[in-house]
Amino acid sequence: MQVLKTVAAFRAARAARAEVGDLGLVPTMGFLHEGHLSLVTRARAENTAVAASIFVNPTQFGPHEDLARYPRDLDRDLRLLEAAGADLVFTPEPAEMYPPGFDLSILVGGVTDVLEGAVRAGHFAGVATVVAKLFNIVQPTRAYFGQKDAQQCVVIKKLVRDLDMPIEVIVAPTVREADGLALSSRNSYLTPEQRAAAPVVFRALSEARRLFDAGERDAEALRRAILEALSKEARVAIDYISVADPLSLRELATVGRQALASTAVRLGPTRLIDNLLLGDARA
Ligand code: PAF
Repeated sequence: MQVLKTVAAFRAARAARAEVGDLGLVPTMGFLHEGHLSLVTRARAENTAVAASIFVNPTQFGPHEDLARYPRDLDRDLRLLEAAGADLVFTPEPAEMYPPGFDLSILVGGVTDVLEGAVRAGHFAGVATVVAKLFNIVQPTRAYFGQKDAQQCVVIKKLVRDLDMPIEVIVAPTVREADGLALSSRNSYLTPEQRAAAPVVFRALSEARRLFDAGERDAEALRRAILEALSKEARVAIDYISVADPLSLRELATVGRQALASTAVRLGPTRLIDNLLLGDARA
């Protein structure tokens, strides 16, 4: 496995690999968990070579968010990536991605003003810009993202479509702990008490799925069920509860074949997001 810190070094390493046919890319911000590794494993199975990136992207953090304390462990990440079968790892410093004079921000319209975008101003412009740069640098055949960040997946698919990038965006199912908590690098912030409370998020979304499967199609009734389930846990402060169209992310009145049930909550200073697809094409 080769670890490359600069754009030039990555490009040279990619070019030197005569055997690179299909290249799968797993973009990450590091502090890897089984969710990331499942993406690498899938990329390994579906491509002739696998690249991963580790970059804590400053432009997707708001001024009062957790950029400074975002967990980092590069040595451990590299060991895990090597064991999972990555061939190339891109680990740039911020100055490599955003050199002096850098002045670009990609605004993906239509799907970034709701849900996470409504709460985290500028977040998706930061994500879209860095992902566009990573796609340009790595030039993957396929790129792999987790369904846990459902809105990010919608934004990236739209980015790729609107910019005619020849890249297949693959969204893989959320990986969960045994008690349902979606894996996230930010789970490491939780105190033991907060960690014990956190599975309420999955339980609440599962209740919406249970009602949907039982025939409930009134989106407000589904939102109410999520609210009631979350309210059983006093430590949880709710940012939003949504039952939306999975592509447009607009709130639904009545659910047809599919909906994205999602929520963001705060447990102390830590924000957790999660979602479940209702209807076909579950993840
Ligand atoms: O999901 C993440 O870890 C990040 O948002 C991404 C896609 C690597 C962009 O910084």
